[in-house]
Amino acid sequence: MSNLLHPYQEQAAERAKRLAQQYGVEPIALIVLGSGLGGLPANARIAARVPLDEVTGITAAAVVGHTRELVFAYWQDVALWFCLGRYHLYQGLSAAAVASPIAMLAYLPVRCVVLTNAAGGLDPTYQPGDIVLIRDHLFVPGLAGQHPLIPPPGPVRFFSLRDAYDPELRAAVRRVAEDRGLTLREGTYAMVAGPTFETAAELRWLRLAGADLVGMSTVPEVIMARALGLRVLALSVVTNRALPDEPHIPTHEEVATIGEQARPQLFTLLEAILPVLTTVDV
Ligand code: HPA
Repeated sequence: MSNLLHPYQEQAAERAKRLAQQYGVEPIALIVLGSGLGGLPANARIAARVPLDEVTGITAAAVVGHTRELVFAYWQDVALWFCLGRYHLYQGLSAAAVASPIAMLAYLPVRCVVLTNAAGGLDPTYQPGDIVLIRDHLFVPGLAGQHPLIPPPGPVRFFSLRDAYDPELRAAVRRVAEDRGLTLREGTYAMVAGPTFETAAELRWLRLAGADLVGMSTVPEVIMARALGLRVLALSVVTNRALPDEPHIPTHEEVATIGEQARPQLFTLLEAILPVLTTVDV
């Protein structure tokens, strides 16, 4: 038994280890493709796919347009696991349950997790379709107690999230993007619980607090990954401007449509960083 996982997460980690043996895909990284960012890259070679809920043991209400699947695949001969879709606080789950797809990796030789999401752009220079490397976060539900390590699965551990978004990986991704001529912004992500989009006052407050992006996911997974000592890379696709003085109100459909349109650029970047993922140490 590990002190790092809740018993249900421990079971998920054991199931994941068995699946890795069964399918012979020992992943070096897990890539979470955010809900609404669609399916797998076309040139990934799929070894197996299973419903994510079967592995995590978590059931949550379906969300229109969102899937939850775990895929074992090779992309450019790199053994990877993909989560297509994820869990959210707004489905009524705890932050620890939301982070379970990461807990699942506890007994696997994974080095890093790559998390992607759709986000609103608080920085007025961001445009829908932009890809932003996350450098830091504001965890609004976490500051208020909805945190993946509350309650702690074992003795309380105090650790810092400074540089949770791995500086070395970020530098490598910036270099790759530059070499390929891809535009890549870098910013701070604010996580809110959702499911409502923010009021104008909330957008103003998040921006004043230093956030460049706002979304409803990712941070519980980042914290779980850091608790397990995994390195983290996170990318947002800006699906809408989130500006308090603009009349435009985002919709779930718009987020899905723009997310879908940005996929080719996101996949070009992810594919280009695979060599970085294979060489990084744990
Ligand atoms: N707010 C919160 N979450 C989001 C947004 C937004 O504007 N866009 C995509 N996810």
